[in-house]
This record gives sequence, structure tokens and C-alpha cells, in this order.
Amino acid sequence: MRKKNQKKLFYIANWKMNFSLNDEIYFSGTNRDSFIKLSLEHDIILCPSYLGLYPINKLFNNSSVQLGAQDCSKHLKGSFTSQISVISLSEVDCKYCIIGHSEVRKEEKQTDKDIALKADLLVKNQISPIICIGEPKKTKKLDKVVDILKCQLKHVFDIIEKNLNIFVGKSIFIAYEPIWAIGSGKIPKLEDLEKIFDWLFLNSKKKYSEINFKLIYGGSVDSSNVIDFKKIPNLDGFLIGGASLDFQEFEKIVKL
Ligand code: PGA
Repeated sequence: MRKKNQKKLFYIANWKMNFSLNDEIYFSGTNRDSFIKLSLEHDIILCPSYLGLYPINKLFNNSSVQLGAQDCSKHLKGSFTSQISVISLSEVDCKYCIIGHSEVRKEEKQTDKDIALKADLLVKNQISPIICIGEPKKTKKLDKVVDILKCQLKHVFDIIEKNLNIFVGKSIFIAYEPIWAIGSGKIPKLEDLEKIFDWLFLNSKKKYSEINFKLIYGGSVDSSNVIDFKKIPNLDGFLIGGASLDFQEFEKIVKL
């Protein structure tokens, strides 16, 4: 049960490429009922591989467990060998899509402009983008972190400004994931996170009240630190990598 007065948070499980297709079907199948139970009180979004989206969608059909992709093409259709279109994502009932994850940015050399184009395409196709941002190195200077985040979000806000009517009422997730915290067991200080989320709040939710912004934290979230993260006032949920591969650990994170 969700604790009294506790707000409903998003728990986004980013399985990355840690499971094979058979592994993710098995994991979803064996924990199906428990995932569905969790989703009655919390927003649970599972992000399997592209190939996993179709069978796992069938498994959770008619339940409140939602599906997200781990990326998408910036193009809608055409000669783009290997890419996956947002149209196909819609066809497998995918309601969310992670974009700009630091691992993808590094592997595929994506620019902030590419990521903004994907966000635009996703919103136009009724899929909520989960836009990942974050600084590469740990730094004590919060101003420096904010400058990096500002730069990463600039193109997204430019597109929003140009087509505000398209974005009205739509959900856009901003996932702050300091790159040094991903998979490292290292986490930012709570007071720093509070300041960063205050800044994000002012520049997204407050500035564009007609858009349904959600602010997410990601980076080494587990059952030993999540209680503190849940104290951050402007936080709407978590993007969880490693700890989402173990159902008991994931359940603990949600229930704590
Ligand atoms: P982590 O990954 O929880 O393993 O740090 C988070 C992410 O990369 O989204």
C-alpha cells in the first residue's frame, strides 16, 4: 500500500541490454501478477528491448503496467536502416520512450538537437518522451551543472516555444541522471539534488504550466537510498537501471 500522504510516483525500469529477449519475457512472466499489483497504486513503466516490447505488451494487456522504449529514430519513416520509428512504438502500445540516455549519446553521438527532434516526434505521436540529461563529472559547482542542463534542454524548449499548442496537456518527462552516478553506486548530495530539482521545476513546470512536466531522478537508485530521494519536494519519480533487474529489490524501492 502507498503510505498515507505519499504522492504517486513514477518508477521507470530501464533494463538496458541486461536481459536477452527470453530473459525479459521470463522475468515479466514470472513477476507479472506482482507488477500488476504494484501498478494499482504506483506508476510502473517497464522499458525492455525493442524486441521485448511486443510480447511484453501482450503479457500486460489490459493492465495498468505501462511500456516504454529505450530510444527511437528521429525520423518518422524512410530509408534509415536499423532504426525504429515512433509509429512502430505506438503500434505495440508503447506510451513512453527514453531519449538522450547518456549511454546512447555516447555510443551513437547524438546531439541535443537530435534529442529535441525525437521529443517532438514522440509527442506528436502520443508517446511521452523521457528526456535524459546530466553532467559527466562530479563537480561541487552547482552553477556549472545547471549550465550543462540548460544547454542540453535548450533545443527542447525552443521546439516547445515554437509549437506550444502541440505540447499543451502532453506529458514530458525530464530525467536528471548525473552520468557519474549511473551504475557507479555514487549518488549526489540530497541538498544539491533539491536545488537542481528546484531549478528544473522553475524552468519547466512553473514556466509552462499548460504542459504536464514530470521530473525524474536516475543514477544508482536502490532500496538503501530511495527513502532520502523521496524527500525531494519537486521529484515525480525514478529511472532505475541495475536495481530494476531484481524484482524484490525493485518492489522494495517502490514500497519504501
Ligand atoms: P542505474 O542506471 O540505476 O543502474 O544507475 C540508471 C540509468 O542508467 O537509467
